[in-house]
Amino acid sequence: MREVMTKSMARNIFYGGSLFFILIFVGLTMHSHRYIVTTSTNAETLTESVVLGKHVWEKHACINCHSLLGEGAYFAPEVGNVMIRWGVDDDPDAAYETLRGWMEAMPTGIEGRRQMPAFELTDEEYRGLADFLLWTGTIDTQGWPPNDAG
Ligand code: HEC
Repeated sequence: MREVMTKSMARNIFYGGSLFFILIFVGLTMHSHRYIVTTSTNAETLTESVVLGKHVWEKHACINCHSLLGEGAYFAPEVGNVMIRWGVDDDPDAAYETLRGWMEAMPTGIEGRRQMPAFELTDEEYRGLADFLLWTGTIDTQGWPPNDAG
């Protein structure tokens, strides 16, 4: 007897195959979500100050010049790990003072060097930004973006 594929066999392969790959897709999506939420970010360490800092970061559009964890503009340095590079990631007060000192010294006016504008921020906003950048430094980005300059 000649082997033929019946219409119902073809339909079963279509639906079975579709279902199989939809399940794989859903499984991978759940895995990514779980991995990002529970393993690599530290949602439990999102204090009010970190959240405030994120809002300050957005309000002043720091991302228009900087990248954060590799996303953003390439005019100015990546700052996701700036506190680690500055060596102040184990001390929130030092992080705050260093960031504030840096920001208050802007713009440097040094010719031929890219300039960062001055921002009028409150103590709380500087503190928030420092805490936010400390927090981004705790995200496990698996070494991305490669950045050990500074
Ligand atoms: C108009 C572009 C611009 C904007 C907007 C901007 N920056 Fe910058 N930023 C720079 C430049 C340019 C530098 C490097 C200056 C230098 O090295 O002299 C810099 C450097 C820094 C550094 C030091 C980075 C390092 O690796 O040493 C930090 C931290 C920083 N900026 C934070 C911020 C924050 C926070 C905001 C938003 C409130 C912001 N910047 C907005 C241009 C900008």
